[in-house]
Amino acid sequence: MKKFIHATRFTPRNYSDDVEATIQKYRKEGVRLPQRHLLRTPEQLAGIRASAKINTALLDYVAQNICEGMTTADVDHLVYCFTTDHDAIPAPFLYEGFPKSVCVSVNDVVCHGIPSTREHLKSGDIVNVDVSTIYKGYFSDASRMFLIGDVSPERRRLVEVTRECRDIGVRMAQPWTRLGDIGAAIQEHAEKNGYSVVRDLCGHGCGVKFHEEPDVEHFGKRGTGMMIVPGMTFTIEPMINAGRYEVCIDEEDGWTVFTDDGSDSAQWESMVLITETGNEVLTE
Ligand code: MF3
Ligand code: CO
Repeated sequence: MKKFIHATRFTPRNYSDDVEATIQKYRKEGVRLPQRHLLRTPEQLAGIRASAKINTALLDYVAQNICEGMTTADVDHLVYCFTTDHDAIPAPFLYEGFPKSVCVSVNDVVCHGIPSTREHLKSGDIVNVDVSTIYKGYFSDASRMFLIGDVSPERRRLVEVTRECRDIGVRMAQPWTRLGDIGAAIQEHAEKNGYSVVRDLCGHGCGVKFHEEPDVEHFGKRGTGMMIVPGMTFTIEPMINAGRYEVCIDEEDGWTVFTDDGSDSAQWESMVLITETGNEVLTE
């Protein structure tokens, strides 16, 4: 008679002995660590990379085509066609009821803007296009800002500083440091420039699911929060407001997030893989 043996005992590890030893050391110290399933296997990583490649090409395609006079529904059409032409699925479509293939967020819209045939891009607008791709079951996510026509120096500066915030966050995403180190560095840079960091929305683990653990906050304290471990894949996507950080959600559609004070908001998003020696940018 065969005895049942618990399968997880024999799950091969997907990280080196050094990583395992360091995990054990921090576990004894009581540090918060990611669950094992968040450390990607080589097979998962191959899938995530393939998805990320399409996602990045998609944003390049949007960059080449977005222009004044287009509607945000036209942007949605570009995203839907490019993604499906590459045998992939736009992850936002019907995600928790989201009705379109992409989030397009203009000026005082912080994020989750729903594409509409009634919304025309006009000179002076700053526009976030946030695209997410499912390819062979693996997820990727990124967003960029686009300047339409003549944009004021104030809006240009917000877009630039927000990009710097994302880049600083990516640089801070190092193995055996803490998520709080990323948040603190982003917050310092935003506030030094007179801006505020949105608190109610954050980055997230991404790859095997669209949104998974951990939450990646864009504000916080150094030396706090979950330990960053090789094999993790997550997004860094600061939303920076020109005014106060409070936001509100459109009651009609249940999605569109606006700044509460009507000030402008910008966002850039990348997905990173934590390696044993640093990180690798998967999407931007
Ligand atoms: N792409 C967004 C993110 O960066 C999530 C959008 S959820 C959706 O996490 F349903 F609005 F698409
Ligand atoms: Co995201």
